[in-house]
Amino acid sequence: MPDLHLTPAEEALLAGSAGPGVQKAMQIVVALGRIYAAPDLTPITHAQISGVSYKNLGDAGVDFLNHWAAEGASVRVPTTLNPAGMELERWQEMGISPDFARPQLIAISAFRQMGVTPTMSCTPYLFPGIAPRRGDHLAWAESSAVVWANSVVGAYTNREGGPSALAAAIVGRTARYGYHLEANRLATHVVEIACPLRTIADFGALSYIVGKEVGDGVPYFPDLGAWLPPLPADLTTGGEAGDRLKTLGAGIAAYGAVALYHIAGVTPEARDLGERLIRGDARRLTIDSLAPAYAIMDANPETTQIDLVTIGCPHASLTELRRVAARLHGEKLATRLWVTTSQITRARAAQEGLIDLIQQAGGEVVADTCAVVAPVRQLGIKRMATNAGKMACYAPMHSGVEMRFGDLEQCLEAAITGQWRAPSLPPI
Ligand code: F3S
Repeated sequence: MPDLHLTPAEEALLAGSAGPGVQKAMQIVVALGRIYAAPDLTPITHAQISGVSYKNLGDAGVDFLNHWAAEGASVRVPTTLNPAGMELERWQEMGISPDFARPQLIAISAFRQMGVTPTMSCTPYLFPGIAPRRGDHLAWAESSAVVWANSVVGAYTNREGGPSALAAAIVGRTARYGYHLEANRLATHVVEIACPLRTIADFGALSYIVGKEVGDGVPYFPDLGAWLPPLPADLTTGGEAGDRLKTLGAGIAAYGAVALYHIAGVTPEARDLGERLIRGDARRLTIDSLAPAYAIMDANPETTQIDLVTIGCPHASLTELRRVAARLHGEKLATRLWVTTSQITRARAAQEGLIDLIQQAGGEVVADTCAVVAPVRQLGIKRMATNAGKMACYAPMHSGVEMRFGDLEQCLEAAITGQWRAPSLPPI
């Protein structure tokens, strides 16, 4: 097998010509290239770093970042951050302890020192001016965003780890293997849908089944487009179709390890190549019921009292904020509601008066964090409800909470009454 080819400039970085911080980054990128038999490195246009919360980093992670920053490393391409463990400006208001906040702020300042933009969101694809374009090579570590970039946009990224995405940002390139190569973007599974998909939660339930069946394969959906309105011209608003795909991508990345899917007539590669994207040995499966997924994701059917309803996983789009605000108009909430989003989307929503409407009902529009990476148990939250497939998977695992899973209407009803009630649309 030929060794990884490096240009003279890359060899120089590896030899330490730009200092120890850059050399360390190059060592990581090159090591990955050799492990995965990459022919060479490819320049990237953007990096997204995950593992930002102090809850994930711990003291060792904060020290590691500080050390890297002190070595003079700084990013060469626009680089953004995943959610942290708290809202940076409002952590006291959220009830976060100084023992958590202090190291969290130190970690963010190390990222800033390296030139990273502290966006603290898992949805960089919803940021005007930052969202990737078709054909871009990226180093993204947030698994839900990876699926969006590869599938909805037609960009190229592997599922990076937090350190490898930062390393790629520091050297401005990543090893060309995996989903950077066309040959690895062919579909390994054909997934037909034989049941209705009515809500975002239904797309979350679908993601459970597909993630478990497909693992780290590439699904091709010949008929899923029938359940999607047209994608909006401005994808950064989300739109009903974008919100459904955002949930689907997050769930198949969480319940499986999917990084790319194709939808006939909808996603860019499927529009161009159609069934030529399907490998000859692709497995075929048909999904005719979502009920088995609901039975598992709605994990605690005996739980009726809810401490926190959380909407926005991945971070809420403008469209989702509009829907929540419209439903809460004139209501008073009986329990805590977090709509988690980015600072950027929150500012756009504020211009439409949506934040005021949600706050007047007693809800919180929380930026920079989410109910998985925030220390929710320390905030006294034990019973949660969500309409997001990935949240239903991760919150019980990472925060030890009881979970109710259902559609947006059911979740907002629970926020208004404090009680989880039977769904308006029973699972099919
Ligand atoms: Fe984002 Fe948190 Fe969900 S990081 S994808 S809102 S678990």
